[in-house]
Amino acid sequence: MNFAITTLFAGALLFATVASAKDKPGVSKQPFGKTPSGEEVSIYTLKNSNGMTAEITNYGGIIVKLTAPDKNGKYEDVVLGFNSLDDYVKDNSPYFGALIGRYGNRIGQGIFTLNGKTYTLAKNNEPNGIPCALHGGLKGFDKVVWKAEPLLVKNTAGLKLEYLSKDGEEGYPGNLKVTVTYWLTNKNEVKIDYSAVTDKPTPVNLTNHSYFNLKGEGNGDILDHELILNADKFTPVDKGLIPTGKLESVKGTPFDFTSVHKIGERVEENNEQLKIARGYDHNWVLNHKGNKLSLAASVYEPTTGRFLEVFTTQPGIQFYCGNFLDGSLKGKSGKPYNFRNGFALETQHFPDSPNHPNFPNTILKPGETLKSTTIFKLSTK
Ligand code: GLA
Repeated sequence: MNFAITTLFAGALLFATVASAKDKPGVSKQPFGKTPSGEEVSIYTLKNSNGMTAEITNYGGIIVKLTAPDKNGKYEDVVLGFNSLDDYVKDNSPYFGALIGRYGNRIGQGIFTLNGKTYTLAKNNEPNGIPCALHGGLKGFDKVVWKAEPLLVKNTAGLKLEYLSKDGEEGYPGNLKVTVTYWLTNKNEVKIDYSAVTDKPTPVNLTNHSYFNLKGEGNGDILDHELILNADKFTPVDKGLIPTGKLESVKGTPFDFTSVHKIGERVEENNEQLKIARGYDHNWVLNHKGNKLSLAASVYEPTTGRFLEVFTTQPGIQFYCGNFLDGSLKGKSGKPYNFRNGFALETQHFPDSPNHPNFPNTILKPGETLKSTTIFKLSTK
């Protein structure tokens, strides 16, 4: 072997060693501060074999940071969020990255009836002056400390989070045991497995409220992102953002994302539904039947080439384009999050389902186990 080849060989060997040490899947844990009531909270960094990382805190099960490569291999943080626990604890975090429950999305007037009994929930939201219950109430699953267990299974890093929501919590019946497991797979997917059991019938709707900006968080608006939603219908809303109960065809409307459209292309059109919600903030009825894991949405950002695909077993998806962001919150890189600087794709059951018998069932009964899975897959094109 001549000198050049030996050097090349040694170099390659060294590179391989360094790369494998750097990109070995695993989970590390750091302190993330204390809640106002003194509970210790941690932040867990999940790493996959490609060097992608997801930082998740057991406060609210929040995805704080998610790095993904662009078409040139440059990693950037593609989700909105804060650097400190204190910023998440303040009431004005609009659910950045959080786990949402017991009932994600809205319940009209915060009231539902189950087996002849009427339950009244806290009204913590007031779109256009009309009160409702939103995202689990005053202290939803986004504001509680979850029991956390780091996992490494078949070379895949994960984080198992568990929470017991007590009978009567936020007005909901039954002790609900919830387990959410995040996986950062070696295919650059964030896979979220949800499961729950109860000891009394109760409505349950679990989701994750990550806001994405595929240009990188803090890098402007998301209006040029190109979206596809695999949905021929959506659930139109009244002035209080509560579904009217109809499943309406998207054909010929700005809600038709069955073929690719930029988010900003039709968002300012003169459309009553868009006016009510200040933009897109609606539930789409996914085309797939049953609970088979299927492609629900995809988003492409042309300048970075980043491509996000969302797969889910859920029947619906709330596409929200950050209409309530107004520049008053500063994100991780110190830049303000302005109007439409992030979008959320919340896989879910339909909003206000307990008050709409024609919507897919959200009542979990004792003896049953709720199970659902959602995957956010990042790649480039
Ligand atoms: C959800 C709702 C929106 C808004 C955000 C949080 O996505 O659908 O209307 O309340 O949460 O700001």
